Amino acid sequence: MKGLILSGGKGTRLRPLTHTSAKQLVPVANKPVLFYGIESLVAAGITEIGIVVGDTHAEIEAAVGDGTRFGAHVTYIPQDAPRGLAHAVLIAETFLAGDRFVMYLGDNLLQRGITSLVAEYLSLGVDCEILLTKVPNPSSFGVAELDSSGRVVRLVEKPKEPRSDLALVGVYLFNDAVFEAVKAIKPSARGELEITDAIQWLVDNGNSVKAHLVSGWWKDTGKAEDMLEANRTVLDAAEPLGEPVADDLSRVEGKVVFEGGPGSVVLVDSVVRGPAILGAGTRIERSFVGPYTAIAAGCRLTGVEIENSIVWEGSTLEDVPLRISDSLIGRNVVIKRRPEMRPKAHRFLVGDNSEIGIGE
Ligand code: TTP
Repeated sequence: MKGLILSGGKGTRLRPLTHTSAKQLVPVANKPVLFYGIESLVAAGITEIGIVVGDTHAEIEAAVGDGTRFGAHVTYIPQDAPRGLAHAVLIAETFLAGDRFVMYLGDNLLQRGITSLVAEYLSLGVDCEILLTKVPNPSSFGVAELDSSGRVVRLVEKPKEPRSDLALVGVYLFNDAVFEAVKAIKPSARGELEITDAIQWLVDNGNSVKAHLVSGWWKDTGKAEDMLEANRTVLDAAEPLGEPVADDLSRVEGKVVFEGGPGSVVLVDSVVRGPAILGAGTRIERSFVGPYTAIAAGCRLTGVEIENSIVWEGSTLEDVPLRISDSLIGRNVVIKRRPEMRPKAHRFLVGDNSEIGIGE
């Protein structure tokens, strides 16, 4: 069995972070989302992995390499433009030919991994297996309708009037019947070759399509609030690890992961309340790091309070008057109180599509 991870696309909903970074490399608990997907394929015994890449191919390749560090062998499959999930299957035919495969969307996270699902698919001998989960807002997803015996009868992409609340999760299992399907379908109104249309084609042409309800959580990390939720969920499950160098005034409460080996993280007159993760070489001074915060390597926090937030590498936060909450802060960002500045004002140097909330 092979793996096909989709790591192209635009990531428009995560701008401005995705102006400078591939959406699949946005960190959840200090690890790129994409790495969780690769690891769950490898855990299921799948080590031949194709990764579909687009404009951000150089960055993805630099992060993942040839896959050796994951115990996998990775082949990159370039996609000229994000022409749809079924298009990604179409262009991967040579890589996949002859093998059954798992298609995994590179910005998705599944709590329980895919090991039991892969075993189930192989034992059932069906042509395709899809994963479904109940959602409160099905019109934002690909939605499946099942008959009374649980067979898939209809799939619709983002229906205006959904006939079920079962959304497609970003993991699919196929055999080579899918290649005929992706060649037969036409682009949708939004100009993409839709995987829902390809699976519908399989159903309509007598192939067996099985639905599997996801147990445990599943996250599509397409938007900022999804990233924060994924971060919370992963931190909740993490075990405490490592030791900081801390002075007598500092306290660590709850589950906290300190990266970078003994003493790499420095705490001065600060409280860290988990679940949280602090990256290698980070220094926290006169600060409070609250629950559900992930701070990547090489950050400096001085005189700030922060909670439920993700901060990427190398950022500096200094003497910010109000607590920072529910925030995604990119690489090498500086947020700093400057009392000497004249005129007294907020001074911003902020890229396109950024969003700043001022609390008072
Ligand atoms: P989406 O989230 O559907 O699309 P997107 O990345 O363009 O994001 P946005 O809606 O914010 O603009 O894609 C799901 C995953 O599949 C994601 O990891 C990107 C990848 N993908 C491809 O590799 N090729 C494609 O043609 C498409 C549409 C997506």
